[in-house]
This record gives sequence, C-alpha cells and structure tokens, in this order.
Amino acid sequence: MATAMAKRLEGKTILITGASSGIGRSTAMEFARTSPKSLKLILTARRHDALKAIAEDIKKEVGEGVKVLPVKLDVSKSNEVKEFVENLPSDFKDIDVLVNNAGLVKGKDRAPDIKEDDLDIMFSTNVIGLINMTQAILPIFKKRADGGKGDIINIGSIAGRDPYPEGSVYCATKAAVSSFTDAMRRELIDTRIRVMEVAPGQVETEFSIVRFYGDKAKADAVYKGCEPLTPDDIAEAAATVMHKKT
Ligand SMILES: NC(=O)c1ccc[n+]([C@@H]2O[C@H](COP(=O)([O-])OP(=O)(O)OC[C@H]3O[C@@H](n4cnc5c(N)ncnc54)[C@H](OP(=O)(O)O)[C@@H]3O)[C@@H](O)[C@H]2O)c1
Repeated sequence: MATAMAKRLEGKTILITGASSGIGRSTAMEFARTSPKSLKLILTARRHDALKAIAEDIKKEVGEGVKVLPVKLDVSKSNEVKEFVENLPSDFKDIDVLVNNAGLVKGKDRAPDIKEDDLDIMFSTNVIGLINMTQAILPIFKKRADGGKGDIINIGSIAGRDPYPEGSVYCATKAAVSSFTDAMRRELIDTRIRVMEVAPGQVETEFSIVRFYGDKAKADAVYKGCEPLTPDDIAEAAATVMHKKT
C-alpha cells in the first residue's frame, strides 16, 4: 500500500533547481524512490552532464515510471529562466512543485575584504535566482482553479537566522530568502499555493568545496569534530512538507 508521502507525490511534475549535487540531487532521488510509478522530474543546474548522470541513476534504480528531464540552467540569468519556461516540452509544462534549492557560498572574508565577485554571485544566485524562478513558475500555479494551486519549497538556511562572522554575505542572502518566503506566503494566503522554507543546519555536500574554491582539504576541515546532516536528511524533510494531491 502506498504511503501518505507517496500519495502526495503521485502523478506530479516537480522542478528542482541545483539538482546536480548535494541536497538537490538527494531530493530528486528521494522523490523518485517515494513515487516510482508516476512522477515527472525536471532537474536543472549549470552542470548538464551531472544532471544526465542522475537521470540515468534514477532510471536504473526505479525504472521507467519516473520521467526525468535534465536541463542546463543558470538561475541567476533571468533571460535563461524565461527561455527555459517557454521552451519546456508540453508534457513537462504543468509544474506542481518548485524546489528552489540552487545556491552557494563563496569565500570566508570579513568586510571590507569581501570579494566583489563573491558578493555578486551569492546574491545573484541565492536571492535573485530564487526570485527569478518563483516569478517564472508562479503564473503556472495561478492559472489553476480557486486562485491557484502548487507548492514552492525554498531551501533557506539556519545561517539566515543565526548569522556568523566571515559568512556575512551568505547569511544575508539566506535572511533574504526567509523574508521573501514569508511575504510570499502572506501574498498567497487566499489560494492553495503553499510557500514553505526548509532551513537546514550544516550538511555535508559540495557546499564547502565551493566555498573554498575547490580546496577539498579546507572543506573537509569544516566537518572535523562534528556530525553534519546528510543531503538525504534534508531531502526527506522536503518530501514531507509537500501538499496533498487533492
Ligand atoms: N550544505 C550546507 O551546509 C547547507 C546548509 C543550509 C542550506 N544549504 C543550502 O542548500 C542548497 C543546496 O546546497 P548544497 O549544500 O546541496 O550544495 P552543493 O552540493 O554545492 O549544491 C549546490 C547546487 O546549486 C547549483 N547551483 C549553484 N549555482 C547555480 C546557478 N547559478 N544556477 C543553477 N544552479 C546553481 C549547483 O549546480 P551547478 O554547479 O551544476 O550549477 C549544485 O547543484 C543551497 O541553497 C545552500 O545554500 C546548504
């Protein structure tokens, strides 16, 4: 018998940004495992080859019931986001769930030594990218009856609520995600569009490798002496907060 979570997911079309690694990849796998008979996944990120490999992994593990569309997309580029939505194949257009997961941290600097490129990429990805995606997908949700229906799951961070030194810009981007999520929830309160935030603590992914510009030794040192969450932990949380089908 299908679990409540499987019933929630069955037949849905789910778009995940930043699905090429870490939490995004695990979320795609978790959704596929939970609803292996009927699901459509649109997986996006800048690394298309990694997305294609994940599509293969899903097919190998659960078979043909989960249809996967891997699409190269940089969420920080508003023109790419618009083109992506306009060019979705007809059988993937009717999106039910948007998981705004793409995000990154760069550097560990204190003001006034924060690098301009790091500042730009963190805000343009974590904040503007998430807003770009939301604005592009929301009209699909709003076309549905009674003011609209759909789920938006934003991946925030505990860093947005509990900011730390040398992470000021990243923390500020995640505070912005939290604030945007709360405002959206209130704007859409009279519809069946739900806007949720999952705000993880420390998770071991490629996150720290990206922070230290590819320096794996520095990244590994971040997790010494603590037991970080795994991306699968966050994927489970994301699947649990989803809306019921009817
Ligand atoms: N790890 C943690 O401790 C932690 C804690 C709290 C919250 N988070 C949040 O969780 C989310 C996922 O991070 P993660 O930990 O899973 O790190 P990760 O393994 O580095 O994954 C980040 C994902 O974001 C994608 N991405 C980055 N920039 C992008 C862009 N401009 N356009 C499209 N995709 C982009 C990356 O794909 P490409 O490089 O292929 O584009 C990758 O798939 C982020 O929003 C992060 O802030 C992480």
